[in-house]
Amino acid sequence: MDVKTLAVVGAGQMGAGIAQVAAQSGLSVVLLDVNPDLVQKALAGIRAQLDRAVGKGKLKPEEAQAAVARIKGASSAQDASHADFAVEAVTENETVKKKVFQDLSRALRQDAILATNTSSIPITRIAASVERPERVIGMHFMNPVPVMQLVEIIRGAQTSDGTYAATRALAEKMGKTTVLSKDMPGFIVNRILIPMLNEACFALQEGLASAEDIDTAMKLGTNVPMGPLTLADFIGLDTCLSIAEVLHEGLGDDKYRPAPLLRQYVDAGWLGRKAKRGFYSY
Ligand SMILES: NC(=O)c1ccc[n+]([C@@H]2O[C@H](COP(=O)([O-])OP(=O)(O)OC[C@H]3O[C@@H](n4cnc5c(N)ncnc54)[C@H](O)[C@@H]3O)[C@@H](O)[C@H]2O)c1
Repeated sequence: MDVKTLAVVGAGQMGAGIAQVAAQSGLSVVLLDVNPDLVQKALAGIRAQLDRAVGKGKLKPEEAQAAVARIKGASSAQDASHADFAVEAVTENETVKKKVFQDLSRALRQDAILATNTSSIPITRIAASVERPERVIGMHFMNPVPVMQLVEIIRGAQTSDGTYAATRALAEKMGKTTVLSKDMPGFIVNRILIPMLNEACFALQEGLASAEDIDTAMKLGTNVPMGPLTLADFIGLDTCLSIAEVLHEGLGDDKYRPAPLLRQYVDAGWLGRKAKRGFYSY
């Protein structure tokens, strides 16, 4: 399938990034959200990002204009009925996502592909809630989408080979590198990353070293751009905790139990950078 029109559902942080990259790759995009103000905010944000790229000489002004012109704001799945492919990036809530998938499956063509950007909800369960579940797949972009190279593709139990091939081709058209994961908690990146961040919380809790020394050790000792506690603050400690809980519950092994210190920081509202306080103050 040659995807020409992409529906992006949810105009938050991730949806806006997906819409921007798709439009820059030449796709027509319908960006929809339940809240029309957020669609306008996302469009303004995309314009500002592209203008900055023009200012830095990374993009021609006419390319930026053409990309913006390819994105149409919308408010219901009906407005995207002509889309070949939909990527859902709404709030991480299973009930909300299932409703979005049901609306999309009714509004779009029978052969349109329906992808979810979920970080933690089983693709198989979302697929089971719609007709023709073989066209449902996980397409997990990383944040921020215009910067991060990776897309994890997750096949649900029902996903067809054709759906997988079209999703991979779309990600590549958007300039991304893909990896394929089975539909297991955390997929690949969070399965490995979150236990490492959680272990850094245990190390801090036990007084192994200061937060600064844990981060410096990992940064300089393993050549990563950010130490684990700085990265946890960046992701959001509430997000880290909820993914740790998904791993713990879904894999049923106590080695994934969230560090009590992580839970305590979340209880205190110290959610990291977005709350101006986490393991560090901002
Ligand atoms: N933020 C990240 O770092 C990150 C990374 C990878 C994947 N994800 C996943 O991407 C998804 C979106 O995350 P986000 O950070 O962009 O969230 P966000 O809160 O910034 O955006 C979610 C958007 O969905 C909209 N929305 C809610 N219900 C809707 C509905 N029924 N129909 C249409 N729009 C609706 C909201 O109005 C909001 O604009 C989640 O599933 C999340 O797990 C997030």
